[in-house]
This record gives sequence, structure tokens and C-alpha cells, in this order.
Amino acid sequence: MAVFDCVLLVSIAFLALARSVHGGVSFASLPRSLVVTVAMNEQGRFLNSVESGKDRLLINWSVNSSVPAPTNFKNIKLKLCYAPPSQQNRGWRKSTDDLKKDKTCQFDIATQSYAGAAGNSTEWLISKDTPGALYFVRAYAINSTGSQVAYGQSTNAAKTENIFTVIPITGRPKSLYIATACFSLFSVGSLAIFFTIERKLAAAKKGK
Ligand SMILES: *[C@@H]1O[C@H](CO)[C@@H](O)[C@H](O)[C@H]1NC(C)=O
Ligand SMILES: *[C@@H]1O[C@H](CO)[C@@H](O)[C@H](O)[C@H]1NC(C)=O
Ligand SMILES: *[C@@H]1O[C@H](CO)[C@@H](O)[C@H](O)[C@H]1NC(C)=O
Ligand SMILES: *[C@@H]1O[C@H](CO)[C@@H](O)[C@H](O)[C@H]1NC(C)=O
Repeated sequence: MAVFDCVLLVSIAFLALARSVHGGVSFASLPRSLVVTVAMNEQGRFLNSVESGKDRLLINWSVNSSVPAPTNFKNIKLKLCYAPPSQQNRGWRKSTDDLKKDKTCQFDIATQSYAGAAGNSTEWLISKDTPGALYFVRAYAINSTGSQVAYGQSTNAAKTENIFTVIPITGRPKSLYIATACFSLFSVGSLAIFFTIERKLAAAKKGK
């Protein structure tokens, strides 16, 4: 009986270990140590919409000087990632905190070796097989054993700023323009609602 209990216990311990080994790094646990900017084409300006197979992304990354200098960065992995409006109702693009399961950033742009806080830059011709959608760029700092240890991205935490549309070279899906327009409208709309509520609250306070 004791042997059986022991085997059971060891099996459970193994299962737990296997689970922890198989889980990925938690995105929320990563410090935002990298500063990432994206511009388009030679002008170095940010464009709201670009075409795959034709336009280029100019990506710069560096280490934020106000965070402690990293000692464990080996490589910097740059990825193209879906912005929230293009993830809605699409489980196959869903963001998950476990980076092994996360489907936000499905396109590899480049991997550069880390040589210092000054960072580096890269130019990427948007590959022709990039689906038409809204995107941003994220960089992961990778340590010597291949785990993500920090990140940076070309947008804010809510992933609403500086997102851009990739239009497939084969056609311009109307739905994308509609999605972009809806998203802008939604932002303006929520701002209007916010101000209305705030005004009402202020008025209510005065009335007291
Ligand atoms: C990106 O880096 C390049 C060269 O390293 C520089 O010329 C350019 O001004 C940088 N762009 C931005 C937006 O920081
Ligand atoms: C650098 O990090 C500080 C502290 O987290 C933050 O306030 C600042 O916005 C960051 N700078 C850039 C350029 O991201
Ligand atoms: C920047 O990246 C390029 C290409 O990956 C590499 O050849 C170059 O040495 C890097 N420069 C620095 C300063 O890391
Ligand atoms: C790389 O990072 C992972 C996740 O934080 C950690 O478990 C691993 O020990 C790190 N590797 C090294 C060599 O520090």
C-alpha cells in the first residue's frame, strides 16, 4: 500500500513538473525594457496603411535608459502582431498571457543579436503572405536559454496607438477600411461618453 501511495505521489509530482516545464513565460511578468519605433518607407514617417510585398517597415529598438541595464539579453526577436480589432472573434489570433500559447505575434520580422543598450534597427519588406489586418510591432529580449525576459512594442499597453493596416497586394478588402473607421469612431465615441459622464458627475456634485 505504501509503495502504491509513493508511486502515486511521484507520478503527481512528475505531472506537476511536466506542466510547469510546458508552460511558457507569462507576458505580464515581463518588464517593458525595450523602446520600439516603427516607420515606413524612405521618408521615415509613420503611415496608417501599407501594402504587403511593396512597403517596408523601418524598425528601431533600444533599451529604455531609465530601466536598469540588462545583463541577460542574448537576442532581440522582432515580430509583427495583430492589433485588437483584428483579433475580435478570431480565436486563432487570441492574446494569452502564457507566451507559449499566445497568438498575438505570428510573424517573424528579424532576430538580431544583442550588442548593447543603443540597440539596432532593421528594414523589413512586408511579406506578401501577410494577411490584411491591423498590426503593431513587438520586440522580445531573449536570454541564452531561449526564454523571453523583456519586451517592447511600437504601441501603448492597450494597443490602440500607432497601429497600422496592412493591405494585401492582391486586393483591398473593404472590411478592413470599415474596421479601421469603426475603431476610430469607437475611440471618439467612448471619449464623448466619458466627457458626458464626467460633466454629469461634476454637475451632480455642484448640485449637492
Ligand atoms: C532609426 O535608426 C536609424 C539609423 O539607425 C535612424 O537614422 C533613424 O532616424 C531612426 N528612426 C527613428 C524613428 O528613431
Ligand atoms: C522608459 O521607462 C519609463 C519608466 O517605466 C517610462 O515612464 C518611459 O515612458 C519609458 N520611455 C520610453 C521611451 O518608452
Ligand atoms: C545590427 O544588426 C545587423 C544585422 O543583424 C548586424 O549586422 C549589425 O552588426 C548590428 N549592429 C549592432 C550595433 O548591433
Ligand atoms: C532564461 O529565462 C528563463 C525564464 O525567466 C529562466 O527560467 C532561465 O533560467 C533563464 N536562463 C538563464 C541562462 O538565465
